Amino acid sequence: MDNLMDKIISLAKRRGFIFPSSEIYGGLSGVWDYGPLGVELKNNIKREYWKEMISKNENVFGIDAAIFMNPKVWEASGHLKSFTDPLIECKTCHSRLRADHKDLILEHENYHKKRNEKVSWTEPKKFNLLVEAYLGVVEGEKSKVFLRGEITQGVHVNFLNFLYTMSPKLPFGVIQIGKAFRNEITPSNFTFRSREFEQMELQFYVEPDKKKSLEWLEYFKKQRLNWYINLGIKKENLRFRKHKKNELAHYALEAWDIEYNSPFGGWKEMEGIHHRGNWDLSEHSKYSGKELSYFDTKNNKRFIPYVIETSGGLDRAFLFLLIDSYFEDKNRTVLKLHPKLSPYKAAIFPLLANKKQLVSLALRVYKKLKPYFMVAWDDRGNIGKRYYSQDEIGTPYCLTIDFDSLKNKDVTVRDRNTMRQIRIKIDKLIEYLDKKINK
Ligand code: GAP
Repeated sequence: MDNLMDKIISLAKRRGFIFPSSEIYGGLSGVWDYGPLGVELKNNIKREYWKEMISKNENVFGIDAAIFMNPKVWEASGHLKSFTDPLIECKTCHSRLRADHKDLILEHENYHKKRNEKVSWTEPKKFNLLVEAYLGVVEGEKSKVFLRGEITQGVHVNFLNFLYTMSPKLPFGVIQIGKAFRNEITPSNFTFRSREFEQMELQFYVEPDKKKSLEWLEYFKKQRLNWYINLGIKKENLRFRKHKKNELAHYALEAWDIEYNSPFGGWKEMEGIHHRGNWDLSEHSKYSGKELSYFDTKNNKRFIPYVIETSGGLDRAFLFLLIDSYFEDKNRTVLKLHPKLSPYKAAIFPLLANKKQLVSLALRVYKKLKPYFMVAWDDRGNIGKRYYSQDEIGTPYCLTIDFDSLKNKDVTVRDRNTMRQIRIKIDKLIEYLDKKINK
């Protein structure tokens, strides 16, 4: 299975999905750049997330909070004290690993055993994951800030602004997509555990009623799981896992993970669904001196709402979509991505690059489609090679302009998954593709 990861990493690099960050300088551990095709796929995932969470829920709106915040935010949220991982150090080579990453520890011990070296570890120490930065222009007077360790707090500190500007009635929710930063001890498995990554989150404010809030938790568990399934991830590769009491984050009353059955050590977390109780709003009330509460006019009651959170890793969704859609047989490699997610929706080929009439009609088709869809142009090599190249990046339709096209004003449309070909009139192409892609 490691072999599969090697293939995915190689394809991602070769075809412009993901590059190691600042590679010409040797890269930076746990940091990645999304290339021309990667950014298209990533934006498509974000668009689908935004559409799903806004259109399928009542009373949900968005925000884009800043990455820098007043450092008191992190004191109040508990991250300064409790956002830690257990770190151990190998006494032989001083490598540092997370004490709960048993697979990496075993791999490390085997490495030393093979060299007939003894391995022992220091006792676990708490290691804070927040990344520090310094703002200001005068050396010595710069103030320490933190790059946000989760995007969540930018929502909760704006709670009063939501009430003033949107006058929402409970329950209501706020979604956000953005970067988060963690000083991970062992970044690993390609982009799975990175130091800079993106999250897509919903913070849903509900009445502080245990039964009702647990019903909302169930509702969002289902919605989030179905979202991944509807984007094409195979059902059998997804499952829920409930956190044990000793695993719960400092803010969580109950937590579930949506896990993906990965090729690197099996089930791995893709998204967390958390019951955060009234932790965030009550802590920020305490630390800021502002009362972050809600007045229920119907029942004449003031209270601090509970929060149900769905927190997905965009980079993990991206990686698992690549893995799940990867298919190969002896003739071709295919990313069977949902057409909504594919970087290019169609590729346009003139059958022969040296026949002016074919190229000119193919260019007309390309220009006609370009305002509506992301389309690729390819006139290199033979048609077989062009199909191979588009399959590998998940382009769902390849359109070939041949000699019959000149007479009949139509093109051959070849379907990526079935490899079947049909002819479609040029003036029906936009409608045809739109139906196929957005179904
Ligand atoms: N606001 C809650 C929160 O941040 P989390 O479980 O720590 O909860 C949520 O993170 C999601 O963010 C995870 O399910 C995962 O998909 C993603 N994530 C967390 N750490 C990550 C990392 N180092 N690299 C990539 N994605 C990460």
